[in-house]
Amino acid sequence: MGNIFDGMLKEGESLFKNLDALDFEFVPKLLPYRENQQHYIAGCIKPLLQGRNGKNLFIFGAPGIGKTAAIKWVLRDLEEHSDDVVPVYINCWQKNTTYKIVVEMCGLVGYKFTQNKKTEELFRIVKERLNKKAVVFAFDEIDKVEDFDFLYSILEEIYKKTVLLITNYREKLDELDERIRSRLLPEILEFPQYNRDETAGILKERMKLSFVSGVWEKDAFDLVAEKTADIKDIRCGLYLMRAAGMIAEDNEMRKIMLAHAKSAIQKLPEFTVKDKDELDDESQSILSIVKENSGKKIGDLFKVYQEKGGTSTYKTFQRRISKLSENRFISTEKITGGKDGTTTIVSVEKEKKLTEF
Ligand SMILES: Nc1ncnc2c1ncn2[C@@H]1O[C@H](COP(=O)(O)OP(=O)(O)OP(=O)(O)O)[C@@H](O)[C@H]1O
Ligand SMILES: [Mg+2]
Repeated sequence: MGNIFDGMLKEGESLFKNLDALDFEFVPKLLPYRENQQHYIAGCIKPLLQGRNGKNLFIFGAPGIGKTAAIKWVLRDLEEHSDDVVPVYINCWQKNTTYKIVVEMCGLVGYKFTQNKKTEELFRIVKERLNKKAVVFAFDEIDKVEDFDFLYSILEEIYKKTVLLITNYREKLDELDERIRSRLLPEILEFPQYNRDETAGILKERMKLSFVSGVWEKDAFDLVAEKTADIKDIRCGLYLMRAAGMIAEDNEMRKIMLAHAKSAIQKLPEFTVKDKDELDDESQSILSIVKENSGKKIGDLFKVYQEKGGTSTYKTFQRRISKLSENRFISTEKITGGKDGTTTIVSVEKEKKLTEF
């Protein structure tokens, strides 16, 4: 054994080279194992570049397997390649109504005077601008949207377009309104899950981007890769790498060791699958109410919500709670038979249950 102090981090030294590369939103230059899907998406857009109408595409697959990354990658390439096709990417969790989506599109086409204008009026402005070119619409997390009027209008009134819909659930396509389905007629593309080698390969690339070279001990990295492959969500690996690095730094070590990886895994229950920042304001405030009142009945939470000035109906509130639960920000448990009959207990302790998949 060498000098015991050699393994310690010096003042101002860091194990991280670029922390941003561990962000969930980071789109790496290379997206291995997704070449086929990227080509497929590009193929649907290609007719637009030739002055024809594009094809629509319905994309589905499990969380954290590169759907958003692949779309953003293709749209980034498109933007570099052509000025005649406008990419319009919208996350429908943040923009979950036709009005919000249309206002967002106004921003994207550079129209600022959206205040005090009705949805129809705003859509007309967007339409006039977009119809001068061809458009690729990508509606990510389409299952989070509360109404589909925007989609109907786009299908009817934008001439040259490709509409991409992205979701975790295959069945969402069949649930679309017939009016929309018959106009959309999309091709369908599934994103399969990564196998163990692919998962490890992806994490290794991210490791190279984000950490100083050589700081990861092999067994520590292997454990992180293995855990990520179990959970099948690349975000879990990004979270674990960041957490293990932080733990090693807190211990002033120059290497990330097995013990650090293990401690990071113990912290996994704190990890939210989705980034909280992706939630719209209303859901964020409901989430914080649940956090402050974990373990209470849904009816009581609704009262707190109203006391804090919340204006949604109970039904809408319930729907938001179940969306938060679906996305593993919180957990809900149905209790039958208490003095109130059936009720739902909402809590954060068992948040995300990533380890219980
Ligand atoms: N093939 C890949 N190469 C490099 N990074 C990847 C790859 N696949 C996924 N990632 C990374 O994993 C993280 C999660 O991917 P992404 O956000 O695209 O998931 P998603 O399929 O859209 O999940 P969700 O359905 O939950 O939105 C991102 O940080 C992304 O950059
Ligand atoms: Mg996504």
